[in-house]
Amino acid sequence: MIDASPSSPPAPARPFRSWAQRAGRSALAWLAACAAAGTVHARDAVRLDVPYVPTPQHVVERMFEVAELQPREYVVDLGCGDGRMVVTAASRFGARALGVDINPARIDEAKDNAARAGVSDRVELKVGDLFEADIGDADVLAVYLLDSINLRLRPKILETMRPGARVVSHAFDMGEWRPDRIEKIDGRTIYLWYVPAKVAGRWQISQGDRRIEIDLRQRFQDLSGTATIDGRSVPLREGRVRGDEVVFRMETAPGETRTFRGRVDGNRMIALGTGVAPWRGTRRTL
Ligand SMILES: C[S@@+](CC[C@H](N)C(=O)[O-])C[C@H]1O[C@@H](n2cnc3c(N)ncnc32)[C@H](O)[C@@H]1O
Repeated sequence: MIDASPSSPPAPARPFRSWAQRAGRSALAWLAACAAAGTVHARDAVRLDVPYVPTPQHVVERMFEVAELQPREYVVDLGCGDGRMVVTAASRFGARALGVDINPARIDEAKDNAARAGVSDRVELKVGDLFEADIGDADVLAVYLLDSINLRLRPKILETMRPGARVVSHAFDMGEWRPDRIEKIDGRTIYLWYVPAKVAGRWQISQGDRRIEIDLRQRFQDLSGTATIDGRSVPLREGRVRGDEVVFRMETAPGETRTFRGRVDGNRMIALGTGVAPWRGTRRTL
């Protein structure tokens, strides 16, 4: 947490790469340096983990386009500031939304903005700590925080959000969890991730009379592992999971490599598409 007052002079700035370099704005750099040095907080002495810097409106709109936000989907913005993300989600995209900010002054502004936009009935605004907010029902989580805060949120995102839900972030990434899409707009970066289903484990694939044992390993959206097929052990190649859809390739016979595409539902996997003969999978052990 950051605890200081505007009268505190910025302490000697430790280099704070992300805000300064990625956002490319001196104001951001200053705020970030203050944050890193533990010297920024809100006017009314609220302790902030991230300073208040609003996302430009056209970037907000692009974020939701990149996330392919649909009417009636549910958006959560952690650290919602003046509510521009949640208000835009409701007014431009027909979504429902929750904005959480630890600073009551921001939530007052956000409520005024929601009322002005005529979306108060679809936008909930709460004073609260972003680390305690419930994100489990979000179809889209929108954030403009910091690398370090994103990393702290990452386990909760992966544990509690449903497979296929999206996370869209202005300027800051998720470390080793590579984004599924990156978009640049006016020197700013938008990152998008699809929450991956949990597919690691030992699977048995049935394809007609054939049985294939697969030991599937998962690192975020990347899959690797080994298949045992007709007594041969072969590596899985190009394995990916996006939401609940998995794809991997394997050599099903000497010199013959096939792509398997499927949808995961808990401990079951069902073939998608027509690339290979119909198959289905069952997870034996996690
Ligand atoms: C960079 S601003 C982003 C505002 C808004 N999401 C946007 O993009 O325009 C970060 C916001 O996080 C809020 N904040 C900081 N620490 C917080 C915490 N622990 N819990 C909730 N909100 C927090 C700040 O008050 C600020 O409004």
